[in-house]
Amino acid sequence: MSAPDPDPAPQCIVLIGFMGSGKTTVGRVLAHQLGWKFCDTDHRVVKTAGKEIPRIFAEDGEDAFRKIESGVLNSLAGSDRIVVATGGGVVTRPENIPLLRAIGFVVWLDAPEEDIFQRVSRNKKRPLLQTENPRETVRTLLATRAPLYQSAADCVIQTHGFNWHSVIRIIHQRADQYFSNPPPA
Ligand code: S3P
Repeated sequence: MSAPDPDPAPQCIVLIGFMGSGKTTVGRVLAHQLGWKFCDTDHRVVKTAGKEIPRIFAEDGEDAFRKIESGVLNSLAGSDRIVVATGGGVVTRPENIPLLRAIGFVVWLDAPEEDIFQRVSRNKKRPLLQTENPRETVRTLLATRAPLYQSAADCVIQTHGFNWHSVIRIIHQRADQYFSNPPPA
């Protein structure tokens, strides 16, 4: 009989996807069900900067926001038993992709433009969508980012037509499969 593994591999789940795809809602519940910690990278950025996201964008620019966001990802490397919800633009910095993958199992919550627009139009806190034609902005950003989400993800979940409860159940199943047979480091 072999001895139990004294140092099991760390397990983390990272949620990526466009604004309004449900990362924070799903991540919070998933973490609670697993008994893991929950981290929202946007919240960490706000804490680090000492101001809300619209003010970071307005006073310091998007690049300053992205630098802090990459620092937050770096700080999460080596974490164990944590669910991370990321900001929708995290994949736009190429150096973030290996950082995301180093944290853990990366799940893309892939929602169609229509669902996203319905959800984000209720909230005016997203600086990138304060444009004359937010619908067009969503469409353009989504087209640019979809291949980036795809390249970062271990698993894609098409959320359209599913409630959050079903999405979470699918993540549990996929994560079980992934952690029972993780790719070589
Ligand atoms: C952004 C998404 C936001 C936040 C910031 C920029 C983006 O997070 O990080 O406003 O570039 O898509 P959510 O995806 O949680 O809305």
